[in-house]
Amino acid sequence: MTLHWNYLALWLLCIVGALQPIKSSEYIGRPIPRHDKWSQAIKGDYIPMQFYDAMRSAENSKLDFQNQVRNFREHLQRNLTMSNVLSLGHENQLNTQHQRTKLHELSEFFYAAADAARIFARDSETSYEFAKNSSYTLLLQLRQIPSTQPIPVKMLLTNYFAEMEFFHIMFSEIIDEALEYTQNILLATQKTFTYYADVQRFVLQNWNFKGDVGCCQEYMEFLKHYSDQIFKCAAGRGLNVAFDVFAMTELTSKYVMRQLEFRIQRLFNCLYLGSYEIRCKFLLNAEKDFEMLFTKIEELEIFYDLRMKNGRVSALRQRRQNHIEEAAPTGVKAQDNCIPLDFPRSQMHKSLKQCFYSITEY
Ligand SMILES: *[C@@H]1O[C@H](CO)[C@@H](O)[C@H](O)[C@H]1NC(C)=O
Ligand SMILES: *[C@@H]1O[C@H](CO)[C@@H](O)[C@H](O)[C@H]1NC(C)=O
Repeated sequence: MTLHWNYLALWLLCIVGALQPIKSSEYIGRPIPRHDKWSQAIKGDYIPMQFYDAMRSAENSKLDFQNQVRNFREHLQRNLTMSNVLSLGHENQLNTQHQRTKLHELSEFFYAAADAARIFARDSETSYEFAKNSSYTLLLQLRQIPSTQPIPVKMLLTNYFAEMEFFHIMFSEIIDEALEYTQNILLATQKTFTYYADVQRFVLQNWNFKGDVGCCQEYMEFLKHYSDQIFKCAAGRGLNVAFDVFAMTELTSKYVMRQLEFRIQRLFNCLYLGSYEIRCKFLLNAEKDFEMLFTKIEELEIFYDLRMKNGRVSALRQRRQNHIEEAAPTGVKAQDNCIPLDFPRSQMHKSLKQCFYSITEY
């Protein structure tokens, strides 16, 4: 598209150059100097590369995170099952060593998943920031328009800029909404996973597990059940919504950037080449020219409402302030929404408690 416009612009330039050598000689009669802002503008690479880079890394860290948590239940079942132990017969020593390794791996899994959540949170935040930033950068391109336009054109331009600026504000607001929602979900998930992994590690290190076959079996069943519950709570619907919101926002952002770029390119071309009546018609009705873009972000808003549910966002917004931001994500002994009170002590049956020599409070 960009290429196409470049060629079109060049082609038009030649024609106009040939037809109106005197009028346009100021720009066209001589080779365009390299540092002429105006000529830079008409070349038209308006969307900052960082925008695409940021989108790409966020997309990658989303995939990493999704891969990390995919098939969790199956892995949980497979890893924490006693069939291996039984099939190995009487080599109890070996078996429990094997089971201990598996228990250790379970907490490692939650640490890794927490880290993947953190990285996705970070990269998606960057990509959202760049989407807003790029929209603004595009807007700033318009400053390069020489102020030597005829008065009526100037007025139309002012109107057009105002519309574009308004669009930028609306776009930024909706991006902020997505940003807050996904950040809250992801950071809460990260926090729960980390806390849960900390508890498991603490128990293994400090409670002095007996580790015979019976105890292994019971503790594994216990962990299977609670891991499943806690995982469902921390990485359930909310996380899927965050993934969807991210994907949809990304798609819309790319569309919006291309549309803004197209508008700027067209504007530069029309001003550069003169003959406003023909090429600058869109200036006459800025509102109509931006209609499609506003429709696009309205659609995004509807999508958010459907997926996030009304009212939820502002509640989260408040929680974020008091709660998530202040908490350092690792090793914090804060109670978590997804983890039952006084876990795991209160949830253990007497027989499981007897599998530990020294139960202490976490
Ligand atoms: C299961 O074990 C594998 C290694 O054998 C490990 O990579 C994975 O994270 C474990 N998954 C769970 C849920 O414990
Ligand atoms: C936007 O990005 C540009 C680099 O592309 C940077 O110079 C500028 O400071 C950024 N602005 C904001 C508000 O982040």
